[in-house]
Amino acid sequence: MNRSTPFVSQSSQQAASDAHARRSSRRQVRQRLRLPSYCMWISLILGLWVKPAAAFRSLLRTAPSLPRHPGTWSRRTPPSSLSPGLQLHIPVHHHPTSLSAASATEAEAKREKRAPPSFINGPLRRAAMKLHTRDQAKEGEQPAQTPFTKWAPGLADFMQFLVDSKHVFETLERCVNETAELKALRGSGLERTAALDRDVRYLLELDPSLSVPPVGQPGRAYAELLLSKLDEGIPVFMNHYYNTYFAHSAGGRMIGRRMCDTLLGGHLLHFYRWEQPDTHTATENHHHHEQGHHASGSGSGDRSVIEGLLAGVREKIDRMALSWTEEEKQKCIDETPNAFRYGGGLLSHLAKPPKESAGEAV
Ligand SMILES: *[C@@H]1O[C@H](CO)[C@@H](O)[C@H](O)[C@H]1NC(C)=O
Repeated sequence: MNRSTPFVSQSSQQAASDAHARRSSRRQVRQRLRLPSYCMWISLILGLWVKPAAAFRSLLRTAPSLPRHPGTWSRRTPPSSLSPGLQLHIPVHHHPTSLSAASATEAEAKREKRAPPSFINGPLRRAAMKLHTRDQAKEGEQPAQTPFTKWAPGLADFMQFLVDSKHVFETLERCVNETAELKALRGSGLERTAALDRDVRYLLELDPSLSVPPVGQPGRAYAELLLSKLDEGIPVFMNHYYNTYFAHSAGGRMIGRRMCDTLLGGHLLHFYRWEQPDTHTATENHHHHEQGHHASGSGSGDRSVIEGLLAGVREKIDRMALSWTEEEKQKCIDETPNAFRYGGGLLSHLAKPPKESAGEAV
């Protein structure tokens, strides 16, 4: 690979000549990076999910069709222990085909060679994996902590978690709505604000003794942080965008499903369901109106829907990152611990030990 790619180590000679090329004609270099990217995006869809060691191999191999292994990932990588403060769980999908030696054809290998590395699948994801516990992900580097399956929050705790989450997602989404540079991310289908509105109403109907609490400290703190990070610049903000949405779709979803099972008798909240926006494939900037959608039952088709939505967003973020300087990229990567700390803080509402007295109905 003699292309100028920010996160691939190259011989110093090559690096020097590429650096020169960047300086003299940044536009041209970007074009070179972008041109082969279409076949790359498809392989990237898998790249995020596999172990770093295998990631590169899979990038080489996974082009044009996406083998799907429904259910495999959740059985193989249960984040059986998460604890507040260190809780985001970035999707880790294991794709057996990408790990098996059998599937690489020469054509795929060629395609692989042309693909520039993804910012998200590369350094950004690696930074997140460093903060995973070992039981959350095989690449996790942190010791295992109290499993979320041992958490025993009450309905009011769940309500508080939803209220705080809504505050954070609403802030993220308002930032996207109101920031010109983030226009491409509008109407991505990942938005959670409207879903959380419905869920809060659902809980109120379910248990009339509940009320909607004020946003708690974790939610307020994260929303404030998001606004100040947006002021610092798009790359820094994008770390939070990435980690929040992607973690919610994986570990967050797994925790949520359990909460819905234990607290709501299996009623899966909209927060944990994704629907294909009608216009998603038609036009990027056409907004999707969640209100018009019907609940998708058990959400059994969710896996492929959410994967599609994430892939689309990943592509957009990677494209944004192509125009970032090395320094901006590094700033984005360095923001990961904050995203974990503040995002994980929200889960403190759920990470309650079982109550001593049997007074709680749940
Ligand atoms: C963002 O814009 C969309 C489309 O106009 C709108 O439906 C949504 O409510 C907005 N989100 C927020 C949080 O303001």
